[in-house]
Amino acid sequence: MLDRRDFFTKLGLGSLGIAAAGTIAFYYQYLSPNVLFEPSPIVNAGRAENYTVGSVTLDVNSAIYLVRIADGYFSLSAICTHLGCMTAWKPELNQIACPCHGSRFDREGKKIEGPAPKPLPWLKTWISDDGDLMVDRSAIIPPFQFLRV
Ligand code: FES
Repeated sequence: MLDRRDFFTKLGLGSLGIAAAGTIAFYYQYLSPNVLFEPSPIVNAGRAENYTVGSVTLDVNSAIYLVRIADGYFSLSAICTHLGCMTAWKPELNQIACPCHGSRFDREGKKIEGPAPKPLPWLKTWISDDGDLMVDRSAIIPPFQFLRV
């Protein structure tokens, strides 16, 4: 049976233990680096020969368009330059359209209408040694620099 002195001793030790655990948790959180792990900007878009001439393919996961033309390939960012909405390819209009405020772009990313201040950026595109189409989302290139094949 606990007497009054033992009870308060154990209560005090328990309180100290809880305070110590809280302090350790706080310092662990404080000393852990706040690192944001972002996915690689390099996208492997699969076999280059899978894209038919004239196709505009939206890769929703990486927010890029892969465009196949007779002479080669190019890729565009699918993020609207107005406020950053994801655009969509409208084959019936032969345009890329933004659902948010109505900006429209042609298949080369040039703005046709709407509030977007700039065209859709062209992205560095190449074919890997294995024959896969690769895109670097972090590397904007001047327009009309096609990957010729
Ligand atoms: S975000 Fe595309 S038009 Fe506004």
